Amino acid sequence: MKRLGVNIDHVATLRNARGENHPDPVYAAKFVKKVGADSITIHLREDRRHINDADAKRICSIKGLLVNLEISTNSNIVKNAIKIKPNFICIVPEKRKEITTEGGLNLIKNRTIIQNIIKKFKRLNIRTSLFVNPSLKDIRISKAINVDCIEIHTGKLSNLVKTGKNFQKELKRIKECSFLANDLGIEVHAGHGLDYKTTKILTRIKVIKEFNIGHFIIGESVFSGLNDVVKKFKTIIK
Ligand code: PXP
Repeated sequence: MKRLGVNIDHVATLRNARGENHPDPVYAAKFVKKVGADSITIHLREDRRHINDADAKRICSIKGLLVNLEISTNSNIVKNAIKIKPNFICIVPEKRKEITTEGGLNLIKNRTIIQNIIKKFKRLNIRTSLFVNPSLKDIRISKAINVDCIEIHTGKLSNLVKTGKNFQKELKRIKECSFLANDLGIEVHAGHGLDYKTTKILTRIKVIKEFNIGHFIIGESVFSGLNDVVKKFKTIIK
């Protein structure tokens, strides 16, 4: 069974635009679970531009909800993440000025720091994941540093599909990386820039077990409602 993780960061973005309490990301987390999400994802950014520590703590205390917390390698973020006690973590690169996560981790440059973070969370029985580019080399490093899962950055594929360009080469890269990771015993996830069409394309890669989708789900909900959008994604990935 393939799983759907719903990223609710942009519910907090909308709330913060007003500086008040609505819409509440805690309510959103409960709501998406009720309508079929298998887990929710939140990104505790260093600048706290959407989800803050209090949101993260409240969301992680919701009974029966699986929470995937995205974190950078920043030592304060790692300390806070340990206090927040998510079910899963996904380590992502973070640049202060970026609008969204622009690519996968640089595993060559940051190998030691990432390996140490993985060890810390594994000791706490928290599932670990790395946000990586579709590169065979990065999959092999992921195996060497003993991570449980990898999430392949699908931003490039999504852009090619959305702009009507040929995406077959990128899809092939993602497929090869997915199969290598799966053969090495690493669970494969995919995320970034996904909409109905790109998610459908990626379901051709059978070894992808989890899709983490945020911006399109929250944006499309303006027109169709969160309930319908989550259910439609569940049908696509089934
Ligand atoms: N997965 C990871 C690791 C991410 O950093 C993001 C964006 O924050 C997503 C998935 C979701 O991407 P999008 O909002 O484009 O669906």
